[in-house]
Amino acid sequence: MTTPQFSTTPVAWDDALLLDLKPMDDDHQEIVALLAEVVRADDDYLMPRWSALIAGMQRHFDEEDRWMQDTGFAADNCHSSQHKIILQILREGEARGHNGQHDVVRQMAYELGVWLPHHVEAMDSSLVIHLRSVGFDPVTRTVPNGYQATTESIHGCGGSTCGDTATATAGEVTPA
Ligand SMILES: [Fe+2]
Ligand SMILES: [Fe+2]
Repeated sequence: MTTPQFSTTPVAWDDALLLDLKPMDDDHQEIVALLAEVVRADDDYLMPRWSALIAGMQRHFDEEDRWMQDTGFAADNCHSSQHKIILQILREGEARGHNGQHDVVRQMAYELGVWLPHHVEAMDSSLVIHLRSVGFDPVTRTVPNGYQATTESIHGCGGSTCGDTATATAGEVTPA
C-alpha cells in the first residue's frame, strides 16, 4: 500500500458553504464526503472512490443544469459549461489513474478541493439567488403561475459575472 501523497483535503465541510437550498446543500455535503473518501483512500481503493466521486458530481451537475434550463438559461450557459469542463477533466484523470498514474488523481483531488468552494460561492450562490428570485421550487421543478422565462435565454450565471474568476478557478483543476 502507498501512503497518499496528499493526506488532507483542503475542503472539509464548512457550514459557510450552505446556500439555504436544501437539495443543493445536501448534494454539496455529499460531494465533500466523497472527495474526503478519495483523499483517504490507499491505492487499492483510489480508483473506485474516484469513480464514485465522478458519479456523484455528474448527478449533482445534471440537476443544477436542469434547474437552469427550467428557468430560462441556455443549455450552453457558462455555469453549465464549467460543469462539463470539470467532468471532462475528472474523467481524463480516471483514465490516467487506471493506467497507474495515481499521483495524477491525487493531485486532481487536491485541486478539486480548492475549486469546489470557489464554484459554490461564485456560481452556485448566484444560481440560488436566481432560483429564489423567480420563485422556483427545485423539488417539483415548478415556477409560480404567471412566471415567464425571458424570451432570450440566459447565457451568464444568473446574477453575477462569470468571466475571469470562473474561468480561472476551473483552470486550477488541470491534468498534470
Ligand atoms: Fe453545485
Ligand atoms: Fe454548479
